[in-house]
Amino acid sequence: MEQRILDRVAIVTGAGQGIGKGVALRLAREGAHVVIAEFNPETAETAAQEIRSLGRRALAYPIDLSDVSQIHGLVERVVAEFGRIDILVNNAGRVQTKFMLDLEPEDWDRIVDTNQRGMFFCLREVARQMISQIPDEIRNADRAPRSFGKIVNFSSVAGRSGRPYSTHYAAAKAAVISITKSAALALAKYNINVNAVAPGLVPTPMWQQIDAERGQLFGSKPGEAMHNFIEQNIPLRRAATVEDIAAAVAFFCSPDADYITGQCLNVDGGIEMD
Ligand SMILES: NC(=O)c1ccc[n+]([C@@H]2O[C@H](COP(=O)([O-])OP(=O)(O)OC[C@H]3O[C@@H](n4cnc5c(N)ncnc54)[C@H](O)[C@@H]3O)[C@@H](O)[C@H]2O)c1
Repeated sequence: MEQRILDRVAIVTGAGQGIGKGVALRLAREGAHVVIAEFNPETAETAAQEIRSLGRRALAYPIDLSDVSQIHGLVERVVAEFGRIDILVNNAGRVQTKFMLDLEPEDWDRIVDTNQRGMFFCLREVARQMISQIPDEIRNADRAPRSFGKIVNFSSVAGRSGRPYSTHYAAAKAAVISITKSAALALAKYNINVNAVAPGLVPTPMWQQIDAERGQLFGSKPGEAMHNFIEQNIPLRRAATVEDIAAAVAFFCSPDADYITGQCLNVDGGIEMD
């Protein structure tokens, strides 16, 4: 595979399983060293081992991103170990299927704290580090002449429209799109690219959870909610693979996307077209 990001240092949040793990492995195959910033210490270590077996350096860093006080320590540790940060993929997320009128403040906070608040403060902390890495004469100039960092945030098709059974999740994922645009503007002077991806349906442990929660709410059988979603909503008539999403993220992290910032790309088989 083409080494588009050879020896870049990347942090991927929530990379112990699912899409995040696929992204971490894809970035490693394209030459990056990867930090797995993940809630679950065991899956974090397994993912790190798989990256090492690809001949890249890796660090498993257990963290709860909903506790934003832990984020500064992550950045310090990565810089101590690797000397710099070139790429941040804000993938960690949580979901819950519950009718809008039944949502409690604790439900709201749990979903927003990871998907939106943790995501923003991770971006802020890493952006500060990326700016500090720019040589003084360039940092103080009007415009940096080349890209000094790549940030990719995870939105969702849920953030593009309404979700009566996941209102808090949809709101947090819509906020991710807004934060992506604001950060792209704030960091343009430093030539740090900030973009987002909005996946559709990817059969990961998150979708197993959604399928089970919908089963409880609506009495559907295992796999039925996922099958119905594909049949009714996806023009390409299949679920995404993790690699479908990882390929889009790797593109945004590569020099091929140096002139793209502030965008949210739907990777969803045609569910959303704006
Ligand atoms: N699977 C889909 O169909 C789909 C669709 C649209 C968007 N997304 C988004 O893609 C991203 C990845 O989804 P996935 O399907 O791989 O999910 P997943 O639940 O399978 O994996 C999420 C990972 O993030 C970690 N994580 C969760 N909260 C964390 C926290 N507070 N701190 C650190 N780590 C945390 C989990 O431990 C887990 O390893 C999420 O942001 C999700 O919202 C997924």
